[in-house]
Amino acid sequence: MAALLLHMPEMLLCVSLYWDQLFTAPLNQRPIIGVLAMESGETFAQFGKSYIPASYVKTLESAGARVAPISIKLSEAEYTQLFHSMNGVLFPGGVASVQNSRFAEISAMFYNLTLKANDKGVHFPLWAICLGFEELTVLTSGENLLTETNTSNLSLPLKFTKDTLRSRMFKNFPKHLLQALQTKPLAGHYHNWSITLKKFTNNKNLANFYKILSTNTDSQQVEFVSTMEAFRYPIYAVQWHPERSPYEWNVTLDIPHFSEAVQLAWYLADFFVNEARKNSYHFSNTTEEEKALIYNYPPIYTGNISKYDQIHIID
Ligand SMILES: *[C@@H]1O[C@H](CO)[C@@H](O)[C@H](O)[C@H]1NC(C)=O
Ligand SMILES: *[C@@H]1O[C@H](CO)[C@@H](O)[C@H](O)[C@H]1NC(C)=O
Ligand SMILES: *[C@@H]1O[C@H](CO)[C@@H](O)[C@H](O)[C@H]1NC(C)=O
Ligand SMILES: *[C@@H]1O[C@H](CO)[C@@H](O)[C@H](O)[C@H]1NC(C)=O
Ligand SMILES: *[C@@H]1O[C@H](CO)[C@@H](O)[C@H](O)[C@H]1NC(C)=O
Ligand SMILES: *[C@@H]1O[C@H](CO)[C@@H](O)[C@H](O)[C@H]1NC(C)=O
Ligand SMILES: *[C@@H]1O[C@H](CO)[C@@H](O)[C@H](O)[C@H]1NC(C)=O
Repeated sequence: MAALLLHMPEMLLCVSLYWDQLFTAPLNQRPIIGVLAMESGETFAQFGKSYIPASYVKTLESAGARVAPISIKLSEAEYTQLFHSMNGVLFPGGVASVQNSRFAEISAMFYNLTLKANDKGVHFPLWAICLGFEELTVLTSGENLLTETNTSNLSLPLKFTKDTLRSRMFKNFPKHLLQALQTKPLAGHYHNWSITLKKFTNNKNLANFYKILSTNTDSQQVEFVSTMEAFRYPIYAVQWHPERSPYEWNVTLDIPHFSEAVQLAWYLADFFVNEARKNSYHFSNTTEEEKALIYNYPPIYTGNISKYDQIHIID
């Protein structure tokens, strides 16, 4: 009897492991992540109407995802169908108006679809970088609260908040990297606009939606939000550029190439791709999937005319 009792906890453990496996959907080990294309400016117009810097693609690929570019030319019905074929979406950096541009329109559609899917219990993650981060503040607050800051070419350590170490984004990072993040300039900033801490905390829509995971201060002592994650949605945003550290080399930009900066890009990508593995949307068949993937848009070299070493022309 005593022997049986002693074995009870073990038996319970076995049963509960079995139970979990029965009722947790298996992870999707072939995740596909959509990346919004950016309208070409002066430099890239000679190649096509829209582009995606290859560094975003490589960063996602490094962590085990494939990329489907999101054209600027589709109809709302086509974007909706594409959304339901992918496992996550990335809003990249670039130059566009956060209120009056194709980028703003398409971001709004994908943001709304992301909220709707998650509200229905479908885990659909969104990662926003730089301009994508700024766009999220507009989409969540319903207004443009951005302030001009002197942050267009500098790398900085992150100033952690009380929530950083417990956040979903950072909690599984190795200790040495969390330490380096706070002491070494691993985060590259290339933006002219920021959401200040003051405007963020004064806006209920933002403060109730996102947890602030890091801030930074510009040369004028303006403190701005540099990393955030949504409380109730798998939505993650960085005002800085992790993807440049391993993949962009233009010396006219202050890009951190420390080993830890490269690790940072990978750990964030790994985190995000794991979020995408929890989603099981898929294309209707492999022909449709193949047509959608980035391999149909081979990268071209642009390192001698722009800050991107390679870009994919999408439209
Ligand atoms: C997204 O949702 C908001 C709030 O419901 C709505 O005002 C906006 O028009 C929607 N935008 C798009 C592009 O669907
Ligand atoms: C902007 O910041 C840079 C350093 O990143 C500094 O050299 C420059 O003086 C600053 N400009 C202003 C107007 O503060
Ligand atoms: C920031 O402003 C500078 C100077 O006007 C400009 O060269 C740069 O392209 C801007 N950066 C972004 C990301 O808009
Ligand atoms: C950016 O910063 C780097 C390193 O501080 C500097 O060498 C470069 O000239 C700067 N570029 C611009 C466009 O200000
Ligand atoms: C794949 O799906 C598309 C769209 O649903 C359909 O038009 C096409 O016939 C399908 N192809 C195959 C080989 O099943
Ligand atoms: C940049 O490099 C490409 C590819 O090597 C080359 O075709 C092009 O002429 C170069 N452009 C300039 C302005 O050097
Ligand atoms: C680096 O970026 C600048 C600014 O976008 C661009 O003018 C230059 O051609 C790029 N390449 C090199 C090698 O400086």
